[in-house]
Amino acid sequence: MIEGNIEQKLVEALQPIRYHVLASEIYHLFNTGIYDQLIESEHSVSSLATALNLDERKLYGFLKYLANEGIVEFIDQIVRPTQKCQQISEFRGWYTLMIGGYAKTYLQVGETLKLGSEWLERDGKQVGVGSCEMSKFDAIPLVRSLMSNIPKDCQYFLDIGCGEGLFMIDFCRAFPDLQAWGIEPDKDAYLAAVEAVQQAGLEDRIVMTNASALELLESPFETEPDFLVVSFVLQEILGQEGEEGVIKFLTGILERFPELYIIVIEVEDRIDQKKIMSHNMALAYYNAYYLLHYVTNQRLEKQEFWEQIFEKCQLEVKAKDFVDQNVDSTELTFCYLLHRK
Ligand SMILES: C[S@@+](CC[C@H](N)C(=O)[O-])C[C@H]1O[C@@H](n2cnc3c(N)ncnc32)[C@H](O)[C@@H]1O
Repeated sequence: MIEGNIEQKLVEALQPIRYHVLASEIYHLFNTGIYDQLIESEHSVSSLATALNLDERKLYGFLKYLANEGIVEFIDQIVRPTQKCQQISEFRGWYTLMIGGYAKTYLQVGETLKLGSEWLERDGKQVGVGSCEMSKFDAIPLVRSLMSNIPKDCQYFLDIGCGEGLFMIDFCRAFPDLQAWGIEPDKDAYLAAVEAVQQAGLEDRIVMTNASALELLESPFETEPDFLVVSFVLQEILGQEGEEGVIKFLTGILERFPELYIIVIEVEDRIDQKKIMSHNMALAYYNAYYLLHYVTNQRLEKQEFWEQIFEKCQLEVKAKDFVDQNVDSTELTFCYLLHRK
C-alpha cells in the first residue's frame, strides 16, 4: 500500500493524462476554426455555435474545459482566447503535426511492438500541413540562408514532398521572378497544396503534381530547375526505398540536371545520447518525434550517414547550417547545400 499523502502522489501520477488530453483539445481548438473565429470577432458560446454550426452544449463543455486550463476566458458570457493561448497559436504547426498527424499513431505503439507487425499509419495531410506551418521557424529561414550561397540567379525550383506548399508560396512571394514545381505523393496533402496555391493567387507560378520523388524521375521537364529542396523528405525515401532508393533519386536527378543545386533538410537521430536528450527542446519535441520514426516507415540518420550518401552520389557539401539558435539550440535539425563535384 502507498504510504503518506496518497492524493498528492495520485495528482502527480495523473499529470501525463492531463497533458495528453490538453494537447488534443488545443489541437481541436485550432483545427475546428474556433480559435480563428474567436480572434476575428466577439462571441458567446451560443453565437459561436451558430457561426460554426456546432452543437452548443458540447461546445459549452469544451470551452469550459479550456477555461479551467487557462486557454480561454469567460468575461460577461463572452469567450476569448487568453494571452497564453495566443502565444501557443504561433506554434500551432507542432499541434497539427504531432497531434493531427500522429496522435492515433502513438495510441497504436503497443500493437506495433509485436514481432512481425506492420509499420503504423499516420494522417498524411496533417503531417504535410503541420510541417509546413512549422517551416516558418525552421526550414524557410534555413533555405533562405543557404540559397544566398548559390552563385547564380534562381528562377525555377523543385520542392519534393512539398506538403501543403507553404514553402513555395513563401519563396514565390519573396522573389517575384521565381517559379516552382511542387511534388507531393499524399493525395490529401497534394489537394491542400493546390488549394493553398490558388488562395495565394500563385497558380500561374506554382505547378503541383501528385507523385513521389522516384516517380518524378519519369516525368517530362519543360524547364531546367536551378535548385531542388528536399525538406524532411530524404528520411521518408530512406524508409520506403532504402539507401538504394535515395541514391537512385539523387543520381537520377543529377543525370538530368548536372548543374542543379540541392538543398537537404534533415533531423539527426540522437535518441541514445543522454546529454542532448535532457535538453528542454529535446524533451518537449524531439523525443516524441524520434519515437514516431521508429514505428512508422521513415528513417532518421546521423549527419555522417547523409554525408557518406552524398559522397557516393558525387555531391559536394557547399554549405551547411542549423536552425536559428534562438528557435532551437539543439542543432538536431540541419541543412546542406549540395552541388555535383
Ligand atoms: C515531414 S513532411 C515535410 C513537408 C515539407 N517538405 C516541409 O518541409 O514542411 C514530409 C513530406 O514528404 C512526403 N513524402 C513521403 N514520401 C515521399 C516520397 N517518396 N517522395 C516525395 N515525397 C514524399 C510526405 O507526403 C510529406 O508531405
